Amino acid sequence: MKGIILVGGLGTRLYPMTRVTNKHLLPVDRFPMVYYPVHNLVEAGVRDIMLVTGGNQVGAFLELLRDGREFGLEHLYFAYQHAPRGIADALRCAERFADRERCIVMLGDNILAGSIKPFVDKFRAQPAGARVLAKEVPDPHRFGVPRFDDQGHITEIIEKPADPPSNLAIIGVYMYDETLWDILPALELSARGQYEITDVNNAYLAKHQLECDTIPFAWSDAGTPESLHRAAEMMRASDFLPAVAEGVWEA
Ligand code: G1P
Repeated sequence: MKGIILVGGLGTRLYPMTRVTNKHLLPVDRFPMVYYPVHNLVEAGVRDIMLVTGGNQVGAFLELLRDGREFGLEHLYFAYQHAPRGIADALRCAERFADRERCIVMLGDNILAGSIKPFVDKFRAQPAGARVLAKEVPDPHRFGVPRFDDQGHITEIIEKPADPPSNLAIIGVYMYDETLWDILPALELSARGQYEITDVNNAYLAKHQLECDTIPFAWSDAGTPESLHRAAEMMRASDFLPAVAEGVWEA
C-alpha cells in the first residue's frame, strides 16, 4: 500500500500566515502540520510515502522530513505540483509512484486524534474500489457531504453544498484501488476551476464501489484560522501523537 500526502496549495484562507510559508509547515500544537498525516500513515502500516507539494517553501519539506527514517519510513518521495488546480490534479503527480498499487491519500491539513488502521485494514480486505471516512460536523457546508437513501447507502457526495443533505463531512483520507488512475484523466474542471476529489469519489460510487466508515475520534481540518486553532487544541488534549524514538530529533 502506497501513501500519498498532499501538501501543496497556496493556503490563501490563512493569509498572511501563508504568504511566505507553506500551510503544512505551520505548527499544530507541538508539531509541524505535516507530521500528523505522516504519523497516521506510518501507524497504519504504510512504509512508502510520496509528498506532493507546490506553492511556498517546497524545499522545506525535504529539510524537515529528510529521508523519513525518523518516522519509520522506508522510502520518502517528493513531487512538485506545477499549478494549484485541485486535489485530484495534485494526485496525477503521484501516478508513477503509485504504480497501480492501492494507495491511501491524505490531505496534509487534516488532523486526526486517532488511528486510521482499522479502516485501512478493512480496505485491505475489500476486493476492489474505494473507501472514504466521514465525521459528524456542525458546519458540513465547508466540506464534501454525503447524501443517503432510505437504506442508509450513500447516493452522492456534494462538494461544499449550500444546503447540506446530512451533517457528515467526508474527511481528507481516501483509499483507492488502481482504477483511480483511469478515473483521473476523465475528470472535468469544476465551477471553481479545480479537479475535485469529490468527483473521484462519485465516480467510484457510480460503479457501486465506494465504502464509507464513520470515525469515532476527533478530527479537524486546519485550513482556516479557526480550524487551525481547533486542530491545535484537539491535539493538545490527545495522546495520539507522532511517535518518536529517543534522540531522533537531534540536529
Ligand atoms: C477538501 C475536499 C472536501 C473535504 C475536505 C476535508 O476541501 O474538497 O471534500 O471534505 O477537503 O478537509 P478543501 O477544504 O480543501 O476545500
